[in-house]
Amino acid sequence: MVAASSSSALRIVLLGPPGSGKGTQAGTVAESLGVSAISTGEMLREAVAAGSPLGLRVNEIMAAGELVDDETMADVVRERLAAEDAQKGFVLDGYPRTLSQAATLQEILDRSGKRLDAVVQIDVPESELVNRVLGRHRADDTEEVIRQRLAVYHEQTEPLIAFYREGSLLRDVDGHQSIEEVAKSIRDALGGEG
Ligand code: AP5
Repeated sequence: MVAASSSSALRIVLLGPPGSGKGTQAGTVAESLGVSAISTGEMLREAVAAGSPLGLRVNEIMAAGELVDDETMADVVRERLAAEDAQKGFVLDGYPRTLSQAATLQEILDRSGKRLDAVVQIDVPESELVNRVLGRHRADDTEEVIRQRLAVYHEQTEPLIAFYREGSLLRDVDGHQSIEEVAKSIRDALGGEG
């Protein structure tokens, strides 16, 4: 059972490779927990679409399947988590993605006396990931770019699994099931809280 760290607010991270279903599940999980879904990928895509200074800076990086630098992401996430709706808890999709980002998230939460309640790792076989992403047709969904995003995931994001497992926050979920079954597995992994 996941126990909320303060009042009823729950702070959950969804972790998994591109195409594992983080974005698909974030809204459903957030809704059932009564908290906000926050996707850094979505925020960056909105910035690109708006042609904002942030969007202009990250456009090429995203199109190449690389990670935006940790300092930029720290600013984006610090500001977003300071917003009023995030005070009642959140489901964070796409952050952290490096050990340095995990340290930043911990620091942001520590400063306001909060902590993460759980990190849900959505596990899906690589062949299925590529098929799913290629079926979606987003700007960064060409086969070359998805392979690069997967390589970046293995190199920079996968170490977070051991990091959060060591901190006893990790919950493993089989993402190679129907969308509804994955949602149920996440609910179960959160001890019925979701
Ligand atoms: P981001 O948007 O976070 O991309 P990602 O992690 O590569 O994840 P995806 O959005 O590709 O996949 P997903 O796991 O959300 O799966 P989805 O639900 O869409 O980031 C994009 C870019 O922004 C990064 O490459 C980077 O450049 C930058 N960025 C973002 N955050 C950053 C950070 N913290 N640091 C640095 N850079 C950052 O599902 C995929 C498809 O599968 C969909 O079509 C869906 O309908 C389908 N599907 C989902 N679940 C199932 C299921 N169970 N069965 C069958 N189909 C399914």
